[in-house]
Amino acid sequence: MKEYLGMTLNEFIIRRQSDFKYATGELSRLLSHIGVAAKIVNREVNKAGLVDILGDYGTVNTQGEAQQKLDVYADAQFMQALRASGEVCGIASEEEDNIVTWDNVLSKDGKYIVCIDPLDGSSNIDVNVSIGTIFSIYRRISERGHKAEEKDFLQEGIKQVAGGYVIYGSSTMMVYTTGRGVNGFTLDPSIGEFCLSHPDIRTPESGTLYSVNEGYYKRFDQGIKDYIKYAQEIDKQTNRPYKARYIGSLVADFHRNLLKGGIYIYPRTESAPEGKLRLLYEANPLAFIVEQAGGMAVNGGDRILDLKPNDLHQRTPLIIGSTNMVNKVVEFLENE
Ligand code: AHG
Ligand code: MN
Ligand code: MN
Repeated sequence: MKEYLGMTLNEFIIRRQSDFKYATGELSRLLSHIGVAAKIVNREVNKAGLVDILGDYGTVNTQGEAQQKLDVYADAQFMQALRASGEVCGIASEEEDNIVTWDNVLSKDGKYIVCIDPLDGSSNIDVNVSIGTIFSIYRRISERGHKAEEKDFLQEGIKQVAGGYVIYGSSTMMVYTTGRGVNGFTLDPSIGEFCLSHPDIRTPESGTLYSVNEGYYKRFDQGIKDYIKYAQEIDKQTNRPYKARYIGSLVADFHRNLLKGGIYIYPRTESAPEGKLRLLYEANPLAFIVEQAGGMAVNGGDRILDLKPNDLHQRTPLIIGSTNMVNKVVEFLENE
């Protein structure tokens, strides 16, 4: 993989297609289109303070959360790019109540569906903190030639053909997997291309970072409280106390922990028994990536990728990251 370093995203996608024959031309084109939409959103994110794109849009999305202008913009950009790609017959987005389908021949013949969180970490937009986009791609199960159906979107995460995210940070990166390892591409603004910078990402088995919103500590299950106390104990052998790191943008927290080794926890609470994060377009794609990088993702008792969704906007508790750390949380939950 090292020999591919610096290669553009498009070259890489084509090269891998012929190397491994696992990706069809359609999936390659779709991934390229996502890369283009990401560049457009990146352009807007970068000038966010300069133009009238910050702040509330004045509407709420299907989860009852205030939509930010950039949320709406990013949603529109990805919708447009995916529709134009012709490979996609439908989209489920955090910002849309229902699935979005189109009535033209090309779209109806599309082989794939996409689940997307167009802008993740929206509360951080106005304060210049890293935000992201998360996406997940499935092969449709309904018949080609017709509009996509809801059942196309309610597939277990294990059926994903690709999962990825874009992080708009100190640099902009796209990280994705098609089930053969994880690769990261950094946007080189001087040529406007994503270039392979992080080939074959592996996450450490054990890490020293833990990420959880401890403000909600009192609402957590005993097992999570016990793990947090465990993380804070002093023990040389296991490098504890672990370092607390919580940005409040899932993509950014996940990306850091993926590279450095760590655990991200958004648990269930009494008032939110399903947690906050969404299964289809937050937990599943990141779970696919973390597993491909050698890590783990569970909801407490079960593997995230095995969960059968029954709602587009279904929430799930999420415990994701380095294998030994995730297993430790599970152990505490079992013993609570
Ligand atoms: P989104 O901006 O797409 O609604 O996602 C926000 C999510 C996630 O990015 C982040 O990790 C989490 O909300 C933070 O929630 P808390 O403020 O409750 O910690
Ligand atoms: Mn999100
Ligand atoms: Mn979002």
